[in-house]
Amino acid sequence: MLNNSTKGKIVFTDNNGSFKIGKPEDTSYLYFPIASEAGLKSSLTPNLGGDSMVDQETFILEPTSVENLHNNKNTRNFWLYMEDGKVWSASGSSAEQESQKFTMDQDESAVEAGFMWHKATRASNCYDIGAEILSFVPVNENVEIMSVTIRNTGSEEKLITPIAAVPLYGRSADNLRDHRNVTSMLHRIATTEEGVLVKPTMSFDEKGHRPNNKTYFVIGHREDGTKPESFFPTVETFVGEGGSFFKPRSVYRQEEGLRAGEKMAGLEAVGGLKFSKIKLAPDESVTFNILIGVTEDEKEIEKLSKKYAYKSEVEKEFQTTKEYWQKKVNVSFYTGDKNFDEFMAWVAFQPFLRRVYGCSFLPYHDYGRGGRGWRDLWQDCLSLLFMEPDNVRQMIVANFGGVRMDGTNATIIGEGLGNFIADRNGIARVWMDHAFWPFRTLLLYINQTGDYSILKAKVPYFKDSIVRRGTVVDKKYEVVDNKQHTEDDSVYLGSIIEHLLVENLCAFYEVGQHNVLKLRGADWNDALDMASTNGESSAFSYAYAGNLLELANLIFAVSKEDGIDEIHIATELKRLLDLDSYDSVEEKTNRLAEYCRSCEGNIKGTQASIPVNVLVEKLRGMSSWMTNHLNKQEWLEGNKGEGWFNSYYDDSCRRVERFSDSDEETRMMLTGQVFAIMGNVATDEQIHKIVQAADHYLYKEAIGGYRLNTDFREVKYDLGRMFGFAYGEKENGAVFSHMSVMYANALYGRGFAKEGFKSLNALFATAMNFNVSHMYPGIPEYFDSKGRGKYPYLTGAASWYLLTMITEVFGVKGEAGNLVIAPALLKEQFDEEGKARINLTFAEKKFDIVYTNPSKLQFGEYKIKEASLNNNKLAVENNRIIIPRKVVEEQAAHEVLVVLG
Ligand code: G1P
Repeated sequence: MLNNSTKGKIVFTDNNGSFKIGKPEDTSYLYFPIASEAGLKSSLTPNLGGDSMVDQETFILEPTSVENLHNNKNTRNFWLYMEDGKVWSASGSSAEQESQKFTMDQDESAVEAGFMWHKATRASNCYDIGAEILSFVPVNENVEIMSVTIRNTGSEEKLITPIAAVPLYGRSADNLRDHRNVTSMLHRIATTEEGVLVKPTMSFDEKGHRPNNKTYFVIGHREDGTKPESFFPTVETFVGEGGSFFKPRSVYRQEEGLRAGEKMAGLEAVGGLKFSKIKLAPDESVTFNILIGVTEDEKEIEKLSKKYAYKSEVEKEFQTTKEYWQKKVNVSFYTGDKNFDEFMAWVAFQPFLRRVYGCSFLPYHDYGRGGRGWRDLWQDCLSLLFMEPDNVRQMIVANFGGVRMDGTNATIIGEGLGNFIADRNGIARVWMDHAFWPFRTLLLYINQTGDYSILKAKVPYFKDSIVRRGTVVDKKYEVVDNKQHTEDDSVYLGSIIEHLLVENLCAFYEVGQHNVLKLRGADWNDALDMASTNGESSAFSYAYAGNLLELANLIFAVSKEDGIDEIHIATELKRLLDLDSYDSVEEKTNRLAEYCRSCEGNIKGTQASIPVNVLVEKLRGMSSWMTNHLNKQEWLEGNKGEGWFNSYYDDSCRRVERFSDSDEETRMMLTGQVFAIMGNVATDEQIHKIVQAADHYLYKEAIGGYRLNTDFREVKYDLGRMFGFAYGEKENGAVFSHMSVMYANALYGRGFAKEGFKSLNALFATAMNFNVSHMYPGIPEYFDSKGRGKYPYLTGAASWYLLTMITEVFGVKGEAGNLVIAPALLKEQFDEEGKARINLTFAEKKFDIVYTNPSKLQFGEYKIKEASLNNNKLAVENNRIIIPRKVVEEQAAHEVLVVLG
């Protein structure tokens, strides 16, 4: 019997994030990811619904969007036919179990899960039978293992016939609504000794028909290697006339099934594997291992079949898989709040999920076709810098190759490093925030590593027929290698400093009527996509103002470090550095147009040198002009010590945010506040007012904290599709985790720890409040107006949450490659004895950093009293500790003790 004391409650079962929850099937929309590094990605509901695929073209199981999670009956299943005619589904998916739901007869059930493994357990009190189904995907194989253990929980012997049933879809996701039926005619189905194979003759869509080489399969064994006895390889044979996946006739009527060696064509397929009858004594159990997969080489199936025929092998592989993913997460937190510390384990794991799944392939993410966008590419590097730093340099350098000479970038990102693809469908959309992120990532990289030399790395520029910042297609341009060429037709290479200048200077000049950067196709908020003519993003203008200043500071620092006083840039680019006044929109527009024309075809290939001090002054000047201009123009003063920054202008050139005496009429957005704070446009005094206003208009603790905007009560066709969404969903006023976390990050960055904590904490508390969030541990993309966590797992918010916890809250960060420790923990983040701890890797060395705050003082009250590194006293300067990189590199592991008081 299962203990259902965990019903509706997440209980952590170890120190690696593994958890258990009772009766998960009583909650809708729950799903869990399991995947391999080889490409196979699956999702599992508590009843083993969900799908499995390698890519958009290669879905093993039928693609599922969230509504399918409760609609579809064709889930992974494992049936038991008992001697007395009773039928039970080990995954809980039968007509009878459905009708028992919410009654006294409902099975007891639980899900236990950890990184990339899922165990669904259930027991029937009516039939005295129990099952445990373990699912995982071996790290380097494209096969989902479903290991089903059946136990006789009664007091009498049972005679059972087990039948595994996994419907095989075997084709492209597009075929769901594009010739679903016709494509089933392509299926060629075969039964082998171990299972059912489906090899469609071709992949088929309106783009053209191609021969297909993929074989989809479901094979299985009993734990001692015994093969199935017979098969139900098609929907017709399994479900039977008038039957359904919830009441398959073949099971209920105990049909015999087909033997191995049969072939069928043109039908929907099922991996129906009937095993021979088995006797189970009381408390006796037996395991069946079912393999679900796809391969281009059928020999692979034989290999897998041999490898996983026995229970011991599956168990061994399970341990290896579990350990592999656990090891990936090499950051851990201790705050005395077990729930928070384990929640963080999931947050730290989410960036890996995003690397594997991209922004597609989990049931909420039913729009993506795989692949990641430009923004994701850079943001994912943030967390990798902490967890897989080895390849980050290479990644960053390769990613800069996606920048066009006009400061925009490629938007289609291919497989592998630095593979950017031209969009041949005409004019590509330009997101005005894209040029902002590379610098942020690079800055973190340089601070963590001290590797200034990366700035001098020579990188090509991306080139396609799209010119003048995505406004014109150059029909004469012939794509050779998608690289910017020079007049003598060689590939132009520029330093990373130059790439950063190209991106940030072009952004600076592309202004609208209010001398604010144009919104173009959208900014970070993808759903602000209907103001491309006149829309302006003040929000990202603040962000770029911050970038220009920090870029100036970085160039200054590198020149000091390397003793250089000149920087070489493409001759054309000089035109963007010699405007004296930035007040005229027209002059800026003309200057940018002139520059863009100069790099439309091949560029000269010559370089000009600029003295570092001139460049630094110029960039600082731009930043301060922008800061002053924006601060004067965009600040809105409210009532009672409230105030905030306007974030946008719409396509009708109107300012979007406003203060009104009526709360309902007031319009406020979070994005502008985040970047005004982060970009140093807001003064400390203004931050106090912003916080007041955000708390008044945007904060709702019960649903996760700070919403993205107030309710505009208008479908603003002159700003974006977000206003078409119901208020509280996605980009329209949801608690959108990514922006709420960046709000916290910005506040911490400016010393407002208490205010930053409020945002981080509300997100965590809501996520872990299962009865509100209805989600497994982790941070979702957003919380809706009732607090339900939506689009779990795949969100850039996780990288930012992790980054903020490490570098701001625990205050452990690199500065020019040295390790700086300056905690901003609040007193509630220490355990009862006043202890908090972080384990992480810095410069490939392990760090165990323990803070003690014996008097439980609040942030702001405590100072670093003393500190030691491996028992040697550390100097404290300005309430910070700096451990030089040389010292970090001396030993493999470091123990740092910091006493606060
Ligand atoms: C998602 C997208 C991201 C976009 C954001 C807001 O956010 O992936 O590119 O900026 O919506 O429209 P995520 O949840 O991944 O942070």
